[in-house]
Amino acid sequence: MENGEKKKIILSCIQPTGTPTLGNYLGALRNWKALEEDFYSYFAVADLHAITVRQEPKNLREQILRTYALLMAIGLDPEKSTLFIQSHVPAHSQLAWLLSCNTQFGELSRMTQFKDKSKTHPDNINAGLFTYPVLMAADILLYQADCVPVGDDQRQHLEIARDIAVRFNGAYGNVFKIPEAYIGKNGARVMSLANPEKKMSKSDANKNAFISILDEPNVIMKKFKRAVTDSEAKVRYAEGKDGINNLMGIYSCITGKSYEEIEDEFDGKGYGDFKVAVGESVIAELEPVQKRFNELMNDRAYLKDCYELGAQKANHFSARTLNKAMKKMGFLLN
Ligand code: TRP
Repeated sequence: MENGEKKKIILSCIQPTGTPTLGNYLGALRNWKALEEDFYSYFAVADLHAITVRQEPKNLREQILRTYALLMAIGLDPEKSTLFIQSHVPAHSQLAWLLSCNTQFGELSRMTQFKDKSKTHPDNINAGLFTYPVLMAADILLYQADCVPVGDDQRQHLEIARDIAVRFNGAYGNVFKIPEAYIGKNGARVMSLANPEKKMSKSDANKNAFISILDEPNVIMKKFKRAVTDSEAKVRYAEGKDGINNLMGIYSCITGKSYEEIEDEFDGKGYGDFKVAVGESVIAELEPVQKRFNELMNDRAYLKDCYELGAQKANHFSARTLNKAMKKMGFLLN
C-alpha cells in the first residue's frame, strides 16, 4: 500500500451449507486472510441465502455457527475485518426489497444458476431462488465495496449487482459504488480427486472425490492415495494428465514450489511417493485450522462476542447506505 493511498473495501460471503472443501479453501478462503491486510474487509456468513433450499432449523443454526468459527479458524480477525452473520444485519433484507423493485423479471430469468437450480430442484422453485441475486447485490452494495473476490460461478451474480447499481444511481442519484471483480493471485482451481475433469465439490455423491477442510489426517491421506491419476507413472505437468496436474496444483499452492521444482523433486519416484507428499502437505496446512476450529467451537461465549461485534460494525456501516438509498427514493426519513 502506497503512502497516502486510501485502503479499498473488499467484501465476500460464504453460505453455511456443509463444510468447505480443500477447493474452497485454496481457491478462496485462504486468500481472504491475505486480503484482510490490504483492504477494509467485510466477510459474512450468508445464512439468508441458504434458505432458498429447505433447511432443518437445528441443523441450520449449528451450520451458521460452524461456518463463522471456520472463518475465524482460517485466521480472519474480527477486530481487523468486519466478520458477521448476514441475518444479524436487517439492512440486507431491506435493501434487497428496494433493489428488487429496480430489477427486471427478464434479467433474473436469464441467470444461469437459477436455470440450473430450477432443473435440479423442480419441486422447490421458490421466489427466493429467483431473487437470490438481488439479495447478493444488496450484500455487496450496502458496504460500498470496491471489489469482490468471486469464482467463475459467481461472476454473473456480480455482473447483475453492477447493473442494478448503475441503474439505481442513474434513476435516483449516486448512492452505490460500482463493484469490480477481484481476481486473486494464484487461487488454485482444485478438481475432483475421483474425476479430475470436474471441479471439486462438497455435494459430490462420492466422498472420495473431495477433501473437506475438517477431514481427519488419516482420511485425507486415504483420499489422496485413492486419487485418480494415469498410467505414465511420471510426475510432470502435461495435457491429458488431469489427475496429476490437479495434485501438482494443490502441492504447488501449498508449498509455493513451481511445477518445475515439483517435477525435479519427484524425478525417478512413483506416484505413490508423490501422493503421500501431497497428502502430508495438505494435512500440515489444515492442522492449525482444525485445531483452532475445535477450540472455538468449545468456546461459544467467545464466538458470540465476536459475531456480536461483527453485527455492530456491519449494522453501523450498512445503515448509512440504506438510509441514503431510501431518502433518494422518496421515503420519509428523519
Ligand atoms: N452466492 C455466493 C455463493 O454461493 C455467496 C454470497 C452471498 C456472496 N452474498 C455474497 C459472495 C456477496 C460474494 C458477495 O458462493
